[in-house]
Amino acid sequence: MRKPMVAGNWKMNKTVEQARELVAQLLPDLQAFHTVERVICPPFTALLPICAMLKGTDIGLGAQNIHWEASGAYTGEESAAMVKEFCQYVIIGHSERRAYFGETDESVNKKVRAACEAKLTSIVCIGETLAEFEAGRTEDVLTRQVIAGLGELTIEQAQGIVIAYEPVWAIGTGKAATGTGANEVIAKAIRSNLVKLFGNSISQQTRVLYGGSVTAENAAEFFGQPEIDGALVGGASLKIPGFLEIVRAAAK
Ligand code: PGA
Repeated sequence: MRKPMVAGNWKMNKTVEQARELVAQLLPDLQAFHTVERVICPPFTALLPICAMLKGTDIGLGAQNIHWEASGAYTGEESAAMVKEFCQYVIIGHSERRAYFGETDESVNKKVRAACEAKLTSIVCIGETLAEFEAGRTEDVLTRQVIAGLGELTIEQAQGIVIAYEPVWAIGTGKAATGTGANEVIAKAIRSNLVKLFGNSISQQTRVLYGGSVTAENAAEFFGQPEIDGALVGGASLKIPGFLEIVRAAAK
């Protein structure tokens, strides 16, 4: 049995004061859903104050990026060990980082290894663009992203990694994939490649989230699918009733 997970990716939103306010309002209800692994991923500046607020709860904290090097002259970057001081999770290879900040499957691979080394749980994002989807290349693209992004990890490193399948055309567009469509893609192009890389047991153990315009209204459609183990939520994670409804749907 894979424990369902709902992670909120706040992206570049909320000052420290705003972040504290949102968490303060979320916490009382969010704490009730112990059967769901709940993770909040605020911007870097809010990690320390939110870490303090989450102490004593079973709600996890995640960063939205790390650098793969342990330390050194990398202005503007944070290492896995630095993130680990506050967080248990890190989002790696989000499509916005791939599109705007030059991240590649190779950098994803290095970051996942750095996260493993620091004992951070990676939430590795993969997904095809609209052009790739329309050209019928979804399976090829995901295969490449899984093999190149996670290749050469040891079985031990692969254990516990979380994958977020986020079709780029569904992110922030209000046009989510369908539950059955995402389920099929995950079975054919993600779990099958995990089997090739790490064997059946790791493939069955690995949680695969869906992401891309998940809302309180459509969440249950995704969570009802056998291959989907939760959601990576962007826009809706900033809305209090909406995010709680998504977590509630995952708990059912
Ligand atoms: P969205 O973003 O829920 O706003 O579509 C999801 C994500 O980018 O992780």
